[in-house]
Amino acid sequence: MADYDYENIKIEKEDGITWFILNRPEKRNAMSPQLHYEADDALEKLQTDPDTKVLVLTGAGDEAFCAGQDLKLYFRGTADDPVERAKAAHASNSWRWRRLSTFPRPTIAMVNGYCFGGAFTPVCACDFAIAAEDAQFGLSEINWGILPGGIVSWNVADVMSYRDAIYYAVTGDIFDGKRAEEIRFINYAVPKEKLREETIKLARKLMEKNPVAVRFTKEAIRAARHMSLEQATDYLRAKSDALKAADKEGGRDEGMKQFLDDKSFRPGFEPYKRQAG
Ligand code: COA
Repeated sequence: MADYDYENIKIEKEDGITWFILNRPEKRNAMSPQLHYEADDALEKLQTDPDTKVLVLTGAGDEAFCAGQDLKLYFRGTADDPVERAKAAHASNSWRWRRLSTFPRPTIAMVNGYCFGGAFTPVCACDFAIAAEDAQFGLSEINWGILPGGIVSWNVADVMSYRDAIYYAVTGDIFDGKRAEEIRFINYAVPKEKLREETIKLARKLMEKNPVAVRFTKEAIRAARHMSLEQATDYLRAKSDALKAADKEGGRDEGMKQFLDDKSFRPGFEPYKRQAG
């Protein structure tokens, strides 16, 4: 595949933001095996792309973020082909979870419409999630006699409360963006016409911060919540030392200098002024 030349996803780069767009609007951006292979390939390249300061995952068109796995091409289409099914399942979990949840730059899921079943995984994998108030979320698997597979049950048990995870998985009830915010499945919901603008606003805020500190911080939060206190104490000490070594712009010293010596900023309210872009 030539760089970012795909049929089922679209990559657009603008001012440090890479828009990672699921691009099958006529099928409500349902995920076919081909889409998984392309998405996996694209994320592998983007993880070392210097132009990508923030990655935004969204769906093409007005109606859907992603209608989950493609029932025809992913489920029925590979039912008699275990090799293809295994390949597709591997690519599916690779990009939706492993690559996205460990992406070195901040990731935002911008949920612009329908979000069903297997689409919950990349929403949970992203560091942030913003949705249109009228976006429709549904764990619809129950409605056709299966359970939230792949790793969806694991994702919702992790991100939602226990009560909400069981409720929405067993009833299949739809919930909108406002409700998704209320139960803290997403960060916040905004009117649909403001969705892009609000997403860019968050992306810009993230881009003002020291990028190495942002990366190490999100990695620390993800890792620490499943550790004991003793493990976390030790890990965070080592992680802090690693951050200091990895941060070539010396943010810690620069921040202290600007606050203590120059008196040019207050860390309580804003990031220190960075030289590098
Ligand atoms: N798999 C395969 N095809 C899908 C799909 C999916 N998950 N979701 C939508 N499509 C296809 C439809 O088959 C239809 O194709 P066609 O035009 O060739 O007939 C097209 O996308 C439009 O879907 P349609 O149902 O007509 O659109 P809608 O706007 O009325 O409804 C949804 C949209 C998303 C509510 C509805 O398509 C739906 O329920 N999809 C399944 C969602 C789901 O359960 N996903 C979980 C899978 S794990």
